[in-house]
Amino acid sequence: MTELQKKDLLEQAKQARKFSYAPYSEYCVGAALLCNDGTVFTGCNIENAAFGDTVCAERTAIFQAVSKGFQDFTAIAIAGSPKQENISQASYPCGSCRQVMREFCNPDQFLVLVADHDDSFHECLLGDLLPRGFGPDNLTD
Ligand code: THU
Repeated sequence: MTELQKKDLLEQAKQARKFSYAPYSEYCVGAALLCNDGTVFTGCNIENAAFGDTVCAERTAIFQAVSKGFQDFTAIAIAGSPKQENISQASYPCGSCRQVMREFCNPDQFLVLVADHDDSFHECLLGDLLPRGFGPDNLTD
């Protein structure tokens, strides 16, 4: 990905964050998932009064994509921070989201972009976030 493509995906994550439904934690997250063909699916966190039924932004985006027939992904951009207009901290994906990424993405190739303050961002591979993970390949001989 070029720097411009990364910035564009991060901007889409920030836009998606505006739809965050987070009345309980007031921690708002947006995600933008880039498919291999260039299609982008976005998601936000959606909380619930039964707290355990909350869904993270990353999984919202991934489930949107899979439910539309897309399973080949290049990168995900994530923008999360306590409720405020600007991003004030890097919000790395939770363990459950890392595991869902592992289901569909190659840990050595899938890029995770994490927004930080003042338009800065961090990037790493899924394998850095979930080393020695368990995936679909484990279920075959
Ligand atoms: N959250 C995400 O959307 N993604 C993550 O990877 C971590 C946490 C959301 C869930 C909840 O609505 C809020 O952030 C605080 O945990």
